[in-house]
Amino acid sequence: MHGVRMKIISIVGSPRGKRSNTGRLLEEVLKGARHAGAANETILLKTDSVRPCLGCDKCHKTGRCPQKDEFESVKGKILSADALVLASPNYIFNVSAQMKAFMDRCCGILHCLAFEGKYGAAIVTSGGGDEKPITTYMNHFLIATGISPVGDLGVTMGNLVNEEFTDEIQGQAFALGERLVRAWKGQKRSKIVDKKIAAFKARMEWLISYRKQDWPYEYDYWRSHRGLK
Ligand SMILES: Cc1cc2nc3c(=O)[nH]c(=O)nc-3n(C[C@H](O)[C@H](O)[C@H](O)COP(=O)(O)O)c2cc1C
Repeated sequence: MHGVRMKIISIVGSPRGKRSNTGRLLEEVLKGARHAGAANETILLKTDSVRPCLGCDKCHKTGRCPQKDEFESVKGKILSADALVLASPNYIFNVSAQMKAFMDRCCGILHCLAFEGKYGAAIVTSGGGDEKPITTYMNHFLIATGISPVGDLGVTMGNLVNEEFTDEIQGQAFALGERLVRAWKGQKRSKIVDKKIAAFKARMEWLISYRKQDWPYEYDYWRSHRGLK
C-alpha cells in the first residue's frame, strides 16, 4: 500500500453540480487531500444517475442491482478506492434525495460491510444550519458500510458574505482533507469507530445467518470473506 498514491472517491448529492455550494466546499477539502498526496475523482449525482431503490431484494441474492443506471459503476469505483467522501446539501433537515437514493442502493453493501478498511468523511452545506445531525447520519452510514470516518464539516451558507467561504472555513476544509490522507497513510483507526463497526458487523452476521436461504449472495460473501459457518 505504501508508495502507492491514495485514491479518494467523492460523491456530491447536490443536483446543482460542481459549482454548487456543496461541490465548492468539497473542492476545498480535496485541496487538502491533494496537497497531502492523494488522487481524487468526484462523482456528481444528477437526477437520474443513481435512481431510488425499488426494494426488489435482488442485490442480496445476486450481489448486483438490476437497475440500469450508474450505481454499479459508482460501487466499483468505491471498491477500488481507499476513501469515500460524501457531500450533500441540507434538504429539509436531511441529505438530498439524490444522496439518499445512493445510500439506499448500498443496502447490500451494508449487509456485507463491503467497504471495510476504507476511510471517509462527510460534508454538508445548508442555508440556515442543522448540518451536524446530517453529517452524523452520513458518518453513521459510512460506519455501517465498514468505512472509518475521520471527521465532518458543516457550513451555513446564510452566514457568509456573497456565499464566499471564509479563510477559517477554507482552513477547516483543507485540514479535513489532509486528515483523511494522514489516517490512510498511518492506517490510523479510532477505537470508538472500530467498536461501532464491530457492533454493526455482529448484527449483520446474525441477520445473514438467519436469512441465508433468501440471500445466497450475501451468505456466500460472509462465508468466503468472513469465515461464517
Ligand atoms: C429543497 C431544498 C430544501 C432545503 N432545506 C433546507 C433546510 O431544511 N435547512 C436549511 O438550512 N437549508 C435548506 N436548504 C438550503 C440549502 O441547504 C443550501 O442552499 C445549500 O447550500 C444548497 O447546496 P448546493 O448549492 O450544494 O445545492 C434547502 C434547499 C432546497 C433546494
